[in-house]
Amino acid sequence: MTEAAWPYPRHIAHRGAGKLAPENTLAAFRHGASFGYRMFEFDVKLSGDGKAVLMHDATLDRTTSGSGRVDALALGELAALDAGSWHGPAFAGEPVPTLAAIARYTQANGFLVNIEIKPVPGAEYRTGAAVALDALSLWKDAAVPPLLSSFSETALEAARLAAPGLPRALLLDRLPPDWLGRLHRLGCVALDANHRELDAAVIGQAHAAGFKVLCYTVNDPARAADLLDWGLDGLITDAVDTIAPDRTGA
Ligand code: G3P
Ligand code: MG
Repeated sequence: MTEAAWPYPRHIAHRGAGKLAPENTLAAFRHGASFGYRMFEFDVKLSGDGKAVLMHDATLDRTTSGSGRVDALALGELAALDAGSWHGPAFAGEPVPTLAAIARYTQANGFLVNIEIKPVPGAEYRTGAAVALDALSLWKDAAVPPLLSSFSETALEAARLAAPGLPRALLLDRLPPDWLGRLHRLGCVALDANHRELDAAVIGQAHAAGFKVLCYTVNDPARAADLLDWGLDGLITDAVDTIAPDRTGA
C-alpha cells in the first residue's frame, strides 16, 4: 500500500464508540457513527467452534451475562448472551456481534474498519489465519480493505500467509529497539503504538521508512491535536463525543 493509496480517515472510534455504549457491539458502532465517525476499531477472537466474534477480553465475565473463556462456548451459545446490560439498561439484550454482522453493517454504511485480531491465549496462529480469511471473504467487494492489527506477531504472521493482500499493522504497547525491523519482517503497512510512545521524531522515523503511524487510545483533545500535527495517520479514540473527526473524511 503506497503513500498515495492510504485510504483510511485519521479518526478511528475505539471498540465501536469508546465508553458511551457497550464496547464491541453494534450499538456502539451506531453511537460512534452518530458523532460522524466513519472508521471503527474492534477486537475479534474465535468462539469454541471457530467463528469470529467481537470481544475484547479472553473471558465473558466483564462485558456479557456469561462467564468463563470465550472459546468455551460455541457461536450458538454466545448468541444467547446479553452484551449490553453491563453498560446500562438501555442496552439490555444487545448481542455479541459476529464479524460477518459487522461486515454487513459497515459496508452498507460506507464505513471502514480496523480489525484487531485479539486471540485467546494459545490460539494466536489459528485466530490470525481464520480472521484474515474471513476478512478477505466478507470484504471481497469492498473498495477499501479492512486494516488488520494485532499485538500478536504470531497472529499477524498467520494473517500474512492466509491473506497477503490485506494490510497489517503491528500493535506495540512499548517500542522495542528493533520496532522498525519487526514491521519490515511482518510486511506491515503501519505501526500502531500506544500514544505515549510517540513523538514527532518517532513518527518521522516511521514515515521515512515507508510506514504509516496509528496510535491508541487518545482521549485528550490537546494530545490528539499534537499527534495529528506531528503527522499521525490514525488516531484511535474513545472520546467520540469530544474529539471531532475530520469533516472531509480525509
Ligand atoms: O487497537 C488498539 C487498541 O484497541 C489496543 O488496546 O486493549 O483496547 O484492545 P485494547
Ligand atoms: Mg482493541
